[in-house]
Amino acid sequence: MQKVLCVFGTRPDAIKMAPVVLELKRRPDQFTVHVAVTGQHREMLDQVLSVFAIRPDFDLDIMTQGQTLAQVTTRALNGLDPILASEQPDWVLAQGDTTTTFVAALAAFYHQAKFGHVEAGLRTGNPYDPFPEEMNRLLTTRLATLHFPPTPEAASNLRADGVGESAIVLTGNTVIDALLDVAAKPYTPADPVLRDILDDPRRMILVTTHRRENWGEPMARIGRAVLHLVDAFPDTVAVVPWHRNPIVRNALRPLLDGHPRVRLIEPQDYVPFVKLEGKATLILTDSGGVQEEAPSLGKPVLVLRETTERPEGVAVGTAKLVGTDTDLIVSEAARLLSDPAAYAAQSRAVSPYGDGQAARRIAEALAPAGTAPTPGRTAPTPGPSLHPAAEALRAGAASGRGESEVGLLSPSPFPKGEGPGVGAVLPGASASFGPEANP
Ligand code: UD1
Ligand code: UDP
Repeated sequence: MQKVLCVFGTRPDAIKMAPVVLELKRRPDQFTVHVAVTGQHREMLDQVLSVFAIRPDFDLDIMTQGQTLAQVTTRALNGLDPILASEQPDWVLAQGDTTTTFVAALAAFYHQAKFGHVEAGLRTGNPYDPFPEEMNRLLTTRLATLHFPPTPEAASNLRADGVGESAIVLTGNTVIDALLDVAAKPYTPADPVLRDILDDPRRMILVTTHRRENWGEPMARIGRAVLHLVDAFPDTVAVVPWHRNPIVRNALRPLLDGHPRVRLIEPQDYVPFVKLEGKATLILTDSGGVQEEAPSLGKPVLVLRETTERPEGVAVGTAKLVGTDTDLIVSEAARLLSDPAAYAAQSRAVSPYGDGQAARRIAEALAPAGTAPTPGRTAPTPGPSLHPAAEALRAGAASGRGESEVGLLSPSPFPKGEGPGVGAVLPGASASFGPEANP
């Protein structure tokens, strides 16, 4: 029996850790599982806990308005310390690059517990971009015992950092597990605002932005680009589920509030947000998670950043790195909105990020000896590049408001011989160029 403490604190942490928590809890003969949330986010974290019906065993509730990085770090570390002392877990698990995650790894180290890093190995190579996430990743890698990279590229980054092969388990990204899970959930919008947006026949540009390195003038340039686009394309509506951070809201409000075809809406629960992604004609984002979800949904993404640690979406052609220059965002988006061939080329449904089996691979790697393959045996086998055609192989997910199939890609970069081992897409939500794309 392994005692596991799962730690998370922000919205994306929760979305990506939920499949892991649920998978470990499905194996009560192998794991005792407890969940500690730092509460680095509050409302946006609680939304995810509710969608996945996860009740934390510990809630540090550390969020304050306008918190600094040092406040998050020290309050989370002080809060986790006594929990680790009393729980004495065999494993602490956390995902990605948030400050909660780095602190969870540090706290595990102080208590000499093993640390498993979910979504390990992402890199831009620039310690200040994204800030502070790139440094959080580097430090977390240093502290981790076992690394769960989502892609072969991430696994290569870990090897380049000197991580030994037996400590690397290629899993796919757990966000695809979560996406497939929620896409299968039936959903009828109760909120009239959302119903109105989902029923709107005009083309939708979905916009999210929150990154620290975009605060200030870059975010204003993004806002101006959105304005230019809706003015240039009268058949479009921009939908902006804006982050709760007041810095983000203060940057966007003066530019976008009040425009008849810009909808500033509250952060959405994960299920409706995935429906919005499915309906979007085009996505503009600086979000990591949204970049990962878009290819599975066949949605073109313009990445509003100077760097990305997710080159896979760019390589398969779904994502384009455009930065925050207003003219560049407008010209790239305008090309997609007015050129069907360019649009078709950037909206193939492919999934370089996962196949929905990541949480299972993580559980198998952590399972007590004798009950699952050892980490070395599930180490990654670098796979061939993805086949361009998505082949719908099994039914099971719903997208938009109708039934759809989960398409599976082959050949796959993910480990073979232990399940489908292929990338998962949602062809029912595949993109189309015109307004008829949005039933
Ligand atoms: C954090 C992560 C970032 C991740 C992002 C996801 C760090 C350093 N940053 O950035 O990597 O991409 O979450 O969204 O770990 N707020 C609320 N309610 C909420 C959430 C936030 O009011 O539910 C407001 C608060 O004023 C808070 C502020 O947003 O102080 C900033 O939150 P914080 O977690 O510090 O930074 P994010 O920009 O959200
Ligand atoms: N998301 C959500 N509601 C929203 C906006 C985003 O549920 O209103 C989800 C999105 O699908 C993705 C995750 O939140 O899975 C991304 O979180 P965020 O952009 O805050 O952080 P990042 O991924 O950039 O760290």
